[in-house]
Amino acid sequence: MKNEKMKNKKNNAKTTYITSPIYYVNAQPHIGHAYTSLACDIAARWAKMCGDEVFFATGTDEFGQKIEKTARDTNKTPQALCDEFSSHFQALGEKLNICNNDFIRTTQDRHKTQVQKLWTKLFNNGWIYKGKYEGWYAIRDEAFYDEKELINGKAPTGAEVEWKSEECYFFKLSKFGAILEKIYLEKTNFVLPKTRLNEVLSFVRGGLSDLCISRTNFNWGVGVPNNEKHVIYVWLDALTNYISILGYEGADNYNKFWVNCKNRIHFVGKDILRFHAVYWPAFLLGSFYNEDSLANATSEEIFAKVPDTIFAHGWWTKDGEKMSKSLGNVVDPNEVMEKYGLDKFRYFLFATNPFGNDGNFSEADFIAKTNADLVNNFGNLVQRTLTIVAKNFDGYIPKPSTEMETDNLFEKITPFMTQFAYDKAIGEIIKYCSTANEFIDKSAPWKLIKQGEDGKQQAGDVIYTLCENILQIATCLEAFIPDSVQKVFEVFGGRAISHSQKINQPQILFERV
Ligand code: MSP
Repeated sequence: MKNEKMKNKKNNAKTTYITSPIYYVNAQPHIGHAYTSLACDIAARWAKMCGDEVFFATGTDEFGQKIEKTARDTNKTPQALCDEFSSHFQALGEKLNICNNDFIRTTQDRHKTQVQKLWTKLFNNGWIYKGKYEGWYAIRDEAFYDEKELINGKAPTGAEVEWKSEECYFFKLSKFGAILEKIYLEKTNFVLPKTRLNEVLSFVRGGLSDLCISRTNFNWGVGVPNNEKHVIYVWLDALTNYISILGYEGADNYNKFWVNCKNRIHFVGKDILRFHAVYWPAFLLGSFYNEDSLANATSEEIFAKVPDTIFAHGWWTKDGEKMSKSLGNVVDPNEVMEKYGLDKFRYFLFATNPFGNDGNFSEADFIAKTNADLVNNFGNLVQRTLTIVAKNFDGYIPKPSTEMETDNLFEKITPFMTQFAYDKAIGEIIKYCSTANEFIDKSAPWKLIKQGEDGKQQAGDVIYTLCENILQIATCLEAFIPDSVQKVFEVFGGRAISHSQKINQPQILFERV
């Protein structure tokens, strides 16, 4: 019966698709990149724990003028630069212990061919025309800005701009305003946190210009089909990674995790929300419809073709200042991990700062928070409880005298996890840890043990309850600190209490700093 149920669950498993942005290969990975990747990892692990079948995609964004320029400045070929830096991002992913299913590089053939395929669809559907572009271009952002958007002669992002005039292909983005507005207003959770919706809404309401989607002043890009002189705009190329990594049309993964998936989530930083919430859905719709068929498509059909959620997270500063190479205050995730360990790093990034808000990284806060929650609270709870099991119960978890009910922590944090309110979920878990620590203090099992058979049974009930609590806490923390939780499960010989399994005295879970 149980097997039958499990099988059904598997067959009906929901699918979830999670993507990180693909990272530019012109600089070393820093804490911001680690943050986005970890946010995806937590969502992926949680979805799996809930029984979903998950595909988690990440990779590197390797074309464009910026990369070409960095290669020139550093005397490398663009490809050599890409190979070198892409490997740093892959190494970072491994160090962070992220569970991505694949890693795409935009210079791979499997990507380039799909970008050209998407282009051809847009072209055949009548969305692309040739024209001349004049405007302010910021290489750093790989984006054009209108005169009215400039602030003191610079892009709104602070990037330097230069005047450009060139022949280029345009995408008729101006035709998508109404449909995008409909998506923003009617497709639930399309942009999260909800506070960010206004930003894209007002951008679209301000009127969309057609978008220049090819370049002729450099070569490092995917060629425009049938016109060698042009390369495809790097954002059109980069966004396509979300479907090229799945194999695009006809591929099993594409059908499973895009076409038939109702939970496609792009995690992005707030700086790149516009590309994901405006351009990307327009490109996707343009690949399926021409102007007439788009006008006749139902909302349901349209909503199924665009991502389900674009979650824009905030930015990290260091000790209150913007991180930058020139200030020399960029936090290197590798250094933090080497110094304090992976799980403390994973934990800190999500425990303090509401996901979606900007956060500030300070080493003092890092130490205080991880000591308080992981060392003194959770780690201590495990240590105290299991020491009593080892010392007073021969290493076996005592059987309770009656059936014991404990609060269901997993249920309690589920609503927070589904809204990506990671700090709130962690807050609940830590509150639960504190309650368990108070319970052990109050019931003082070490005293009860000395009070004869009855006392020992009472102590046994306390310890049983605490073990139950620890396993629940571990389960709920697994997405955040998978390695440490694994150690807890190993000590217990599994995820559930067994009375016939001898418990090993655990090693220290978290070192105090
Ligand atoms: N290549 C584009 C994304 C293309 S996706 C189709 C890009 N790359 S990036 O390497 O510059 O940035 C990748 C991610 O790192 C972005 O989501 C960005 O918001 C994030 N971060 C970069 N610096 C950051 C902080 N200081 N703090 C938090 N995240 C930040 O954009």
